[in-house]
Amino acid sequence: MDLYEALYTTRAMRRVKPDPLPDDVVADMLDAAVRAPSGGNNQNWRFLVVTRPEVKAELGPLYRRSFEELQRTVYRRSWERAKETGDEAALRVMRSSAWLAENFEQVPMWLFAFSRNDPSGASIYPAVWNAMLAARGRGVGTCLTTILGIFAHDETCEILGVPTDRGWRLAAAVSAGYPLGRWGVAARRPVEEVSYADRWGEPLPFSVDGPRWRPDA
Ligand SMILES: Cc1cc2nc3c(=O)[nH]c(=O)nc-3n(C[C@H](O)[C@H](O)[C@H](O)COP(=O)(O)O)c2cc1C
Repeated sequence: MDLYEALYTTRAMRRVKPDPLPDDVVADMLDAAVRAPSGGNNQNWRFLVVTRPEVKAELGPLYRRSFEELQRTVYRRSWERAKETGDEAALRVMRSSAWLAENFEQVPMWLFAFSRNDPSGASIYPAVWNAMLAARGRGVGTCLTTILGIFAHDETCEILGVPTDRGWRLAAAVSAGYPLGRWGVAARRPVEEVSYADRWGEPLPFSVDGPRWRPDA
């Protein structure tokens, strides 16, 4: 797959089929993950592949409880506003993230990423994103989630047997499966709105007529 197609179309693909992923696809994801950069090349990461129904059955209720907590707290105002104003893009995120919570156990593979001595996450998220890009290259949809780590960290780690006493922290749980939806280019705020030249607030000396990769180009 073309690099730019992967960069532009690796989206939160939450709705996936229950069909299992072949081992070589999971191997590609893990091998791409360990090629990522980390501070001082310390590679202080561990990846845990969850496919067994009994493990997912333990985690699913925790994920749903975390999702409810997220709705009640962090996203309460913005999701209420989305409902009031009928903001279709925000409502789509709401619906699809609710689908993921409801169908946690149906997702064929969850990739858990752990790190230590990495409070900013800067040494683990490149690896997580590499795994997601590799999945995209193999036609597999993924979604990066952090709610288990935020709202149910210790319970999740206990279920997974993580040695938290040695500093390991859950950074992300990535869902993975063959997509039910279609890939598309992410709509985002334009470059000009969020980028400056030399000093904060100074406009760029060129314009960016994005998206600069298009499926029909
Ligand atoms: C740090 C981080 C945390 C996220 N946590 C969740 C989550 O807990 N649940 C979820 O469904 N999606 C989660 N997402 C996915 C985002 O909602 C998604 O990347 C964003 O809406 C853009 O989606 P798009 O690429 O399909 O446009 C998370 C993404 C990031 C980067």
